[in-house]
Amino acid sequence: MNSKTLEGQITYEQIVINKNLKYFKSSSLQNQKTFAAELQTSLNSTPKYISPKFFYDENGSNLFDEICSLPEYYPYDSEIEILKNIESGIKPYVDSDIRLVELGSGSSIKTRLLLNALYNIQKNVEYFPIDISDILSHSVQELCNIYNDLKITGLIDTYENGLNFIEHYDDKPNLISFLGSSFGNFNHDEGMKFLKTIHDMMKHSDFLLIGFDLKKDAVILHNAYNDSKGITAKFNLNVLNRINRELEADFDLTKFAHYAFYNELSSRIEMHLKSLQSQKIKIPGANITISLAKDELIHTENSYKFSISELESKFTKSGFEINEIWCDSNRYFALILAQKI
Ligand code: AVJ
Repeated sequence: MNSKTLEGQITYEQIVINKNLKYFKSSSLQNQKTFAAELQTSLNSTPKYISPKFFYDENGSNLFDEICSLPEYYPYDSEIEILKNIESGIKPYVDSDIRLVELGSGSSIKTRLLLNALYNIQKNVEYFPIDISDILSHSVQELCNIYNDLKITGLIDTYENGLNFIEHYDDKPNLISFLGSSFGNFNHDEGMKFLKTIHDMMKHSDFLLIGFDLKKDAVILHNAYNDSKGITAKFNLNVLNRINRELEADFDLTKFAHYAFYNELSSRIEMHLKSLQSQKIKIPGANITISLAKDELIHTENSYKFSISELESKFTKSGFEINEIWCDSNRYFALILAQKI
């Protein structure tokens, strides 16, 4: 992607909330493909699919928080365990002033663990969350209340445009974090493209801190996405509710089942919605009517699991030098700290 040509066209509206908190909202957001337009393509494809980015309306975000509190959903606890020790881990690398840049304004607990580590290492801390949704405002306001001298600059834009903005903002080194194994939603090519794009925008003084879910016993993987309380099922089905609400569709949720399994060959958890009968669904807001056969699947998410050696090769191939790989005590999850060569 050519960020130079993009650069000229993007303007940012600055919104000042108080002396420590401001936002830059991108003009490029109007060019984003709408929910309706994406569904028009994805629900008319064979097989049908819905992008996992659509899980996160308000209800979906709350259900995801609930998933993170489930004992079966180990990725959350594993990453928190690593982040609790991050201070001594990053200390040798971040002696000068470094700014925390977060891709996705994520769980504020994880952000706080990173901010606490930086506060113990340096005097002034700056936080730049990048997120396309306005949800940014909730969690960020909260941080503002907890850390009364934290300078927060929110960027409401895509990760790519947001990083491009920050790299041209000043010379200060950035610690760019991408937590929660969101990387697992990318297939191989998308993942490589993501790493290369970040690499090309980074300065040599910047660091990338990124979380990955590791390959493990298939039963543990299966249970993490088939929890006993059925929260993951609700989370998966909620995307249909969102289509009903936002695009006046008539999905009957009782006629669909959550279906998640570990695809060993592709090293990924696959989540689908299974149609329990033959049915037709009208989606007026997207101008489509779709037909589903009994047992037909709508693919809603891939969550890839990696081995350490695969990760090492991905980083090397995209021009990074790995500084550290930290794992939790179960070796379920890895956080990688890397720099541009
Ligand atoms: C937010 C993409 C990391 O893949 O584990 C959790 C989403 N889906 N349970 C994951 C998710 C079902 C999660 N990520």
